Amino acid sequence: SLALAVLVSGSGSNLQAIIDAIEAGKIDAEIKLVLSNKETAYGIERAKKHGLPTVVINHTAFETREAFDRAMVQEIRSHGADVIVLAGFMRILTPIFIREFFPKIINIHPALLPSFTGAHAQRDAAGYGVRLAGCTVHFVDEIMDSGPVIVQAAVPVNAGDDEDTVGARILEYEHRIYPQALKWLAEGRLTVDGRHVHLAPSEAALIGPE
Ligand code: GAR
Repeated sequence: SLALAVLVSGSGSNLQAIIDAIEAGKIDAEIKLVLSNKETAYGIERAKKHGLPTVVINHTAFETREAFDRAMVQEIRSHGADVIVLAGFMRILTPIFIREFFPKIINIHPALLPSFTGAHAQRDAAGYGVRLAGCTVHFVDEIMDSGPVIVQAAVPVNAGDDEDTVGARILEYEHRIYPQALKWLAEGRLTVDGRHVHLAPSEAALIGPE
Protein backbone atom coordinates (compact mmCIF):
# COMPACT_ATOMS: atom_id res chain seq x y z
CA SER A 1 0.00 0.00 0.00
CA LEU A 2 1.37 3.43 -0.96
CA ALA A 3 1.93 5.90 1.88
CA LEU A 4 1.02 9.22 0.31
CA ALA A 5 1.60 12.85 1.18
CA VAL A 6 -0.65 15.01 -1.00
CA LEU A 7 0.53 18.60 -1.40
CA VAL A 8 -2.04 21.27 -2.28
CA SER A 9 -2.22 25.04 -2.52
CA GLY A 10 -5.80 25.56 -3.59
CA SER A 11 -9.19 23.99 -4.19
CA GLY A 12 -7.98 20.42 -3.91
CA SER A 13 -10.34 18.95 -6.49
CA ASN A 14 -7.59 16.56 -7.60
CA LEU A 15 -7.07 15.60 -3.96
CA GLN A 16 -10.81 14.90 -3.82
CA ALA A 17 -10.65 12.66 -6.89
CA ILE A 18 -7.80 10.72 -5.26
CA ILE A 19 -9.60 10.44 -1.91
CA ASP A 20 -12.72 9.17 -3.70
CA ALA A 21 -10.76 6.57 -5.66
CA ILE A 22 -9.01 5.31 -2.51
CA GLU A 23 -12.29 5.17 -0.56
CA ALA A 24 -13.89 3.28 -3.44
CA GLY A 25 -11.12 0.68 -3.16
CA LYS A 26 -9.69 1.49 -6.60
CA ILE A 27 -6.20 2.47 -5.37
CA ASP A 28 -4.23 0.57 -2.75
CA ALA A 29 -2.93 3.64 -0.95
CA GLU A 30 -3.28 5.56 2.27
CA ILE A 31 -3.08 9.34 2.54
CA LYS A 32 -0.80 9.88 5.53
CA LEU A 33 -0.80 13.65 5.24
CA VAL A 34 -2.36 16.51 3.29
CA LEU A 35 0.06 19.42 3.38
CA SER A 36 -0.60 22.96 2.19
CA ASN A 37 1.47 26.11 2.07
CA LYS A 38 -1.77 28.08 2.42
CA GLU A 39 -4.03 28.21 5.45
CA THR A 40 -7.02 29.06 3.24
CA ALA A 41 -6.60 26.18 0.77
CA TYR A 42 -9.97 24.44 0.44
CA GLY A 43 -8.04 21.20 -0.01
CA ILE A 44 -7.34 21.30 3.73
CA GLU A 45 -11.10 21.38 4.44
CA ARG A 46 -11.66 18.47 2.08
CA ALA A 47 -9.01 16.45 3.89
CA LYS A 48 -10.53 17.19 7.29
CA LYS A 49 -13.97 16.12 6.06
CA HIS A 50 -12.44 12.72 5.34
CA GLY A 51 -10.59 12.54 8.64
CA LEU A 52 -7.16 12.87 7.06
CA PRO A 53 -4.17 14.41 8.88
CA THR A 54 -3.40 17.93 7.69
CA VAL A 55 -0.54 20.35 8.13
CA VAL A 56 -0.20 23.94 6.93
CA ILE A 57 3.30 25.32 6.52
CA ASN A 58 3.22 28.94 5.50
CA HIS A 59 6.05 29.39 3.02
CA THR A 60 6.22 33.15 3.68
CA ALA A 61 7.49 32.38 7.19
CA PHE A 62 10.77 31.04 5.75
CA GLU A 63 13.80 32.95 4.57
CA THR A 64 14.62 30.56 1.76
CA ARG A 65 12.94 27.92 -0.39
CA GLU A 66 15.39 25.41 1.07
CA ALA A 67 14.32 26.14 4.64
CA PHE A 68 10.65 25.74 3.65
CA ASP A 69 11.46 22.46 1.88
CA ARG A 70 13.31 21.14 4.93
CA ALA A 71 10.29 21.88 7.09
CA MET A 72 8.05 20.02 4.64
CA VAL A 73 10.39 17.02 4.52
CA GLN A 74 10.32 16.79 8.29
CA GLU A 75 6.50 16.86 8.49
CA ILE A 76 6.10 14.36 5.66
CA ARG A 77 8.60 11.92 7.19
CA SER A 78 7.07 12.26 10.64
CA HIS A 79 3.68 11.28 9.19
CA GLY A 80 5.18 8.18 7.61
CA ALA A 81 4.63 9.14 3.96
CA ASP A 82 7.19 8.38 1.29
CA VAL A 83 5.31 8.98 -1.97
CA ILE A 84 4.66 12.62 -2.85
CA VAL A 85 1.58 13.60 -4.84
CA LEU A 86 1.63 17.20 -6.05
CA ALA A 87 -1.98 18.25 -6.62
CA GLY A 88 -2.11 21.93 -7.44
CA PHE A 89 0.90 22.68 -5.26
CA MET A 90 2.10 26.04 -6.52
CA ARG A 91 5.59 26.32 -4.99
CA ILE A 92 8.79 25.45 -6.82
CA LEU A 93 10.58 22.61 -5.06
CA THR A 94 14.33 22.71 -4.50
CA PRO A 95 16.72 19.77 -4.93
CA ILE A 96 16.62 19.36 -1.13
CA PHE A 97 13.03 18.18 -1.40
CA ILE A 98 13.30 16.35 -4.72
CA ARG A 99 16.40 14.35 -3.71
CA GLU A 100 14.74 13.33 -0.45
CA PHE A 101 11.84 11.56 -2.16
CA PHE A 102 13.07 10.91 -5.73
CA PRO A 103 11.86 9.00 -7.72
CA LYS A 104 8.60 8.74 -5.78
CA ILE A 105 7.21 12.17 -6.58
CA ILE A 106 4.45 12.73 -9.10
CA ASN A 107 2.76 15.85 -10.38
CA ILE A 108 -0.23 16.81 -12.48
CA HIS A 109 0.10 19.70 -14.87
CA PRO A 110 -2.84 21.28 -16.73
CA ALA A 111 -1.25 21.18 -20.20
CA LEU A 112 0.12 18.75 -22.73
CA LEU A 113 3.76 18.88 -21.67
CA PRO A 114 6.26 19.97 -22.84
CA SER A 115 3.93 22.77 -23.95
CA PHE A 116 2.87 25.46 -21.49
CA THR A 117 4.92 24.82 -18.40
CA GLY A 118 4.53 27.07 -15.39
CA ALA A 119 1.77 28.44 -13.22
CA HIS A 120 -0.72 29.62 -15.89
CA ALA A 121 -0.87 26.75 -18.35
CA GLN A 122 -4.59 26.97 -19.12
CA ARG A 123 -4.37 30.72 -19.77
CA ASP A 124 -1.25 30.26 -21.90
CA ALA A 125 -2.87 27.50 -24.00
CA ALA A 126 -6.07 29.51 -24.50
CA GLY A 127 -4.04 32.59 -25.39
CA TYR A 128 -1.86 30.71 -27.86
CA GLY A 129 -4.88 29.47 -29.81
CA VAL A 130 -4.07 25.76 -29.75
CA ARG A 131 -6.86 23.43 -30.88
CA LEU A 132 -5.92 20.74 -28.39
CA ALA A 133 -5.27 21.36 -24.72
CA GLY A 134 -4.95 18.78 -21.97
CA CYS A 135 -3.21 17.55 -18.88
CA THR A 136 -0.19 15.46 -17.95
CA VAL A 137 0.71 13.27 -15.00
CA HIS A 138 4.48 12.86 -14.74
CA PHE A 139 7.29 11.82 -12.44
CA VAL A 140 9.09 14.82 -11.00
CA ASP A 141 12.76 15.53 -11.52
CA GLU A 142 14.82 18.57 -10.60
CA ILE A 143 13.54 20.66 -13.51
CA MET A 144 10.03 22.10 -13.22
CA ASP A 145 7.38 20.33 -15.33
CA SER A 146 10.00 18.18 -17.06
CA GLY A 147 10.03 14.61 -15.71
CA PRO A 148 8.97 11.41 -17.53
CA VAL A 149 5.33 11.35 -18.64
CA ILE A 150 3.03 8.71 -17.16
CA VAL A 151 -0.25 9.61 -18.83
CA GLN A 152 -1.82 12.48 -20.75
CA ALA A 153 -5.32 13.42 -21.83
CA ALA A 154 -6.15 15.79 -24.68
CA VAL A 155 -9.27 17.94 -24.83
CA PRO A 156 -10.51 20.12 -27.71
CA VAL A 157 -10.45 23.88 -27.59
CA ASN A 158 -13.64 25.08 -29.24
CA ALA A 159 -14.63 28.41 -30.78
CA GLY A 160 -15.61 30.80 -28.02
CA ASP A 161 -13.62 28.97 -25.35
CA ASP A 162 -11.59 31.00 -22.92
CA GLU A 163 -9.15 30.20 -20.14
CA ASP A 164 -11.99 29.25 -17.78
CA THR A 165 -14.00 27.01 -20.09
CA VAL A 166 -10.87 25.25 -21.33
CA GLY A 167 -9.57 24.99 -17.78
CA ALA A 168 -12.79 23.36 -16.61
CA ARG A 169 -12.67 20.86 -19.47
CA ILE A 170 -9.04 20.04 -18.66
CA LEU A 171 -9.85 19.63 -14.97
CA GLU A 172 -12.48 16.95 -15.69
CA TYR A 173 -9.74 14.88 -17.28
CA GLU A 174 -7.26 15.62 -14.52
CA HIS A 175 -9.71 13.94 -12.16
CA ARG A 176 -9.64 10.85 -14.37
CA ILE A 177 -5.96 10.49 -15.15
CA TYR A 178 -4.50 11.30 -11.72
CA PRO A 179 -6.26 8.43 -9.93
CA GLN A 180 -5.45 6.20 -12.90
CA ALA A 181 -1.72 6.98 -12.65
CA LEU A 182 -1.73 6.37 -8.89
CA LYS A 183 -3.50 3.07 -9.37
CA TRP A 184 -0.77 1.96 -11.78
CA LEU A 185 1.91 3.13 -9.35
CA ALA A 186 0.25 1.28 -6.45
CA GLU A 187 0.07 -1.87 -8.56
CA GLY A 188 3.84 -1.62 -9.14
CA ARG A 189 3.32 -1.45 -12.87
CA LEU A 190 5.36 1.68 -13.68
CA THR A 191 9.05 1.59 -14.52
CA VAL A 192 11.12 4.48 -15.79
CA ASP A 193 13.80 4.13 -18.47
CA GLY A 194 15.30 7.53 -19.20
CA ARG A 195 12.43 9.70 -20.43
CA HIS A 196 10.17 6.71 -20.98
CA VAL A 197 7.67 5.30 -18.53
CA HIS A 198 6.75 1.70 -19.15
CA LEU A 199 3.34 0.43 -18.05
CA ALA A 200 3.42 -3.31 -17.37
CA PRO A 201 0.28 -5.26 -18.22
CA SER A 202 -2.17 -5.80 -15.42
CA GLU A 203 -2.29 -9.20 -13.77
CA ALA A 204 -5.75 -9.66 -15.22
CA ALA A 205 -4.32 -9.15 -18.70
CA LEU A 206 -1.48 -11.61 -17.96
CA ILE A 207 -3.90 -14.29 -16.86
CA GLY A 208 -6.17 -13.51 -19.79
CA PRO A 209 -9.36 -15.22 -20.86
CA GLU A 210 -9.70 -19.01 -20.53
C1 GAR B 1 -5.03 21.89 -11.37
O1 GAR B 1 -5.52 22.32 -12.63
C2 GAR B 1 -3.58 21.47 -11.49
O2 GAR B 1 -3.30 20.79 -12.68
C3 GAR B 1 -2.90 22.80 -11.46
O3 GAR B 1 -3.57 23.51 -10.45
C4 GAR B 1 -4.93 23.07 -10.41
C5 GAR B 1 -5.26 22.68 -9.00
O4 GAR B 1 -6.62 22.37 -8.89
N1 GAR B 1 -1.50 22.68 -11.20
C6 GAR B 1 -0.59 23.51 -11.70
O5 GAR B 1 -0.88 24.46 -12.42
C7 GAR B 1 0.84 23.20 -11.33
N2 GAR B 1 1.74 24.06 -12.03
P1 GAR B 1 -7.15 21.56 -7.61
O6 GAR B 1 -6.57 22.27 -6.40
O7 GAR B 1 -8.64 21.73 -7.69
O8 GAR B 1 -6.69 20.15 -7.73
